[in-house]
Amino acid sequence: MTSTLFTGISEARTVSEAGTIRDAAIVVEDGVVQWVGPRTHAPAADNAVDLQDKAVLPGWVDSHTHMVFAGSRAAEFESRMAGEDYQAGGIAVTMEATRAAGLGQLEKLLRDRIRGAHAGGTTSLETKTGYGLDVPSEQMAAKLAAEYVGDVTFLGAHLVPPGANAEEYVDLVVGDMLNAVVDYVDWIDVFCERGAFDEEQSRRVLKAGQERGLGLRVHGNQLGEGPGVQLAVELGAASVDHVNYVTDADVEALASSDTVATLLPACDLSTRQPLAPARRLIDAGAHIAIASNLNPGTSNTSSMNFCVGTAVLQQYLSLDEAIHAATSGGARALLRHDVGGGRDPRGRPAKGTIVPGAAADFHVLTTPQAIDLAFRPGMPMTWRAYVAGELVHENG
Ligand code: NIG
Repeated sequence: MTSTLFTGISEARTVSEAGTIRDAAIVVEDGVVQWVGPRTHAPAADNAVDLQDKAVLPGWVDSHTHMVFAGSRAAEFESRMAGEDYQAGGIAVTMEATRAAGLGQLEKLLRDRIRGAHAGGTTSLETKTGYGLDVPSEQMAAKLAAEYVGDVTFLGAHLVPPGANAEEYVDLVVGDMLNAVVDYVDWIDVFCERGAFDEEQSRRVLKAGQERGLGLRVHGNQLGEGPGVQLAVELGAASVDHVNYVTDADVEALASSDTVATLLPACDLSTRQPLAPARRLIDAGAHIAIASNLNPGTSNTSSMNFCVGTAVLQQYLSLDEAIHAATSGGARALLRHDVGGGRDPRGRPAKGTIVPGAAADFHVLTTPQAIDLAFRPGMPMTWRAYVAGELVHENG
């Protein structure tokens, strides 16, 4: 086993009790952080990497994406910018294109999307099925995603396919479809929203997944107030995502639970929904995460840099709060956060923090100060991404 000493770190945002360390160094061995602290105190290592006076953060943990899809909905987006409302029914357009694409095309698209995420400093990804909506297509998506992505979510309950009966479709989701995907997925999710699945249908889907050992996630309170948040908290979901329209009772329920409220600012902008109330949630004591929600309908970007900048500029988070939400917050939403000694709840190297024992997943910026994520919006901010200490992307 060889160790590597990283220096030339103007600031290391550790997202831990150590806070921000100026003129820092990090030692990595066997894919995990061995040591982090001021460069002048760094222990010797076998190899050395000079990061040339750049800021280093944990890699982004993007805990909500929909990466397995084909086709474009640019025309739908253009109509929305001209005044149309977002409607869940657009999912059916992507369903057609995804079913028509073969495995080879979907695999190429997925690989390109993962490369794009790395190019923006993302080092951990969750992704969902949900554009197949029949048994073979959902199984293909789940199997493909499991080959490339650490956390895979079954979202057969994304939309009732056109022409199907809603109750019969839920029967299929909790029956044959769940059976077909359960070996490939870690999580089950449901779009609990007007135009998609109601509270009882959502409860059925989530409980069926829970009985098969899957963790729970919920799409909720995106297009209006609704039961999503309360249902997620009641069933102990790891995360409820979107949360644009929340009542005081929803905020209280989140604040007194372990369920993470996952904010999706790029989606909010692209659907012209009010930005989720990040400040209100944090001030109440809720756990929050920030994710890209990469998908063809509501958020056609994997740029976590953009999401973090937006959270600072428009959702009134401090830079530290926004970075925390997009790293350790995302990790918590996937139960990959540090619960002590750099280990996650299952004893694996934790994600989203730079502490001894955690995964050596780093995001090296193009600049010496991380505040540029908000101060220089839209500028190229990612220089390098490392996963388990290995360079996975370098922008020229
Ligand atoms: O998270 N809200 C539901 N699902 C996706 C969008 C799906 C689509 O319109 O394709 C989301 O925003």
